[in-house]
Amino acid sequence: MDLMFKKIGKLFAGASSTGGSDVIGIDFGSSSIKVVQLRQEGESISLVTYGELQLGPYADTVVGSATSLDPSRLIEALLDIVREASVTSTYAGVAIPYASSFVAIITLAAQDPAQLPSMVPIEARKYVPVPINQVTLDWFPVPEKNGIAAPGKTRILLAAIHNEALSKYRAVVQGAQLKSAFNEIEIFSTIRSSVQNVHETVLILDIGAATTKLYIVSEGMVQGMHSINVGGQDMTSSLSKSLEISKDDAEEMKRQVGLTAKDNPRIERALSFALERIFSDIRKMLMSYELDKGVPPVSSVVFAGGGSALKGLEDYALSALGRRIVRADPFSKVGYPAFLKTTLDDIGPSFSVAVGVALRALSEK
Ligand SMILES: Nc1ncnc2c1ncn2[C@@H]1O[C@H](COP(=O)(O)OP(=O)(O)OP(=O)(O)O)[C@@H](O)[C@H]1O
Ligand SMILES: [Mg+2]
Repeated sequence: MDLMFKKIGKLFAGASSTGGSDVIGIDFGSSSIKVVQLRQEGESISLVTYGELQLGPYADTVVGSATSLDPSRLIEALLDIVREASVTSTYAGVAIPYASSFVAIITLAAQDPAQLPSMVPIEARKYVPVPINQVTLDWFPVPEKNGIAAPGKTRILLAAIHNEALSKYRAVVQGAQLKSAFNEIEIFSTIRSSVQNVHETVLILDIGAATTKLYIVSEGMVQGMHSINVGGQDMTSSLSKSLEISKDDAEEMKRQVGLTAKDNPRIERALSFALERIFSDIRKMLMSYELDKGVPPVSSVVFAGGGSALKGLEDYALSALGRRIVRADPFSKVGYPAFLKTTLDDIGPSFSVAVGVALRALSEK
């Protein structure tokens, strides 16, 4: 199994192959970097190239595990994937990991929207768990969950990114000779690429290597978020401990067999530790979200992140939650040659963040 790269070369050669009008989206995941290059011609958006580079080998750890690389190693990795995937654009939108940010919905007693710009930074101090001068703040009003405005109150989505993380990722992108056009917290990238029907209320489940992220999205707007310090690497660890096999073998077994090994219940049991934590938090989140009167129910759960590729997880989720399960299909928002359909369907959930941030890059350029 080639775990190192999943890549294709350039899909479209030709006049603008220097990437003049193209953009790239970069997802700095804890276990792998994903990049996507898109091109807009008139109304049509097409996929030029994409690639994923596992960071495990750069940190002397197994593929699929979270890494914490210093900027110089990260630059090296980014340069490698840019070269391997034949990326030609330098205009990059960069997704910042949820873990480097703080996102919350708060309610302010504000009668007049004009009060908000002065109120929000003061109120934010109560919610952001680090000194406010160490973060970059962003915010915007969000409607009530049931769509009915509460008199005298304004709901605000508050987003803060650690300045240290911002400067680290900017330096990495610049170090790889790319232009860091903007940063956004990965939650917004995922929502942009992975919600198919904006009028549906969905729960997005992004199982990464280190963390699992849950977002409830209604009318295209995030209405709830939660992160769990459990991800794909924990499934591999428990499999390795339980079956007394190396982490490399456990990673391979997890990907090949997942929850479908009916002849060996120990595999499913080992994977269940992480899954039970994740699904118990999903159930709690759904219950507390739907508690309020007049709130549209969450009609489906959207799988994103590499960990959601676990074999048998759709059935597991269906019986645990009783909701429709949909795999994120971010590439459905861009054009590509038909022969790639199966591959892109397969890897779609892993590329939710990278495609989402690239889509915003197109609209900003
Ligand atoms: N077929 C598969 N079955 C089960 N797990 C898989 C499969 N393919 C990849 N994974 C797991 O998915 C995880 C990586 O997912 P992803 O690339 O979304 O993480 P990341 O973005 O690097 O991490 P994070 O979001 O936590 O920063 C790894 O733990 C890997 O083992
Ligand atoms: Mg991720």
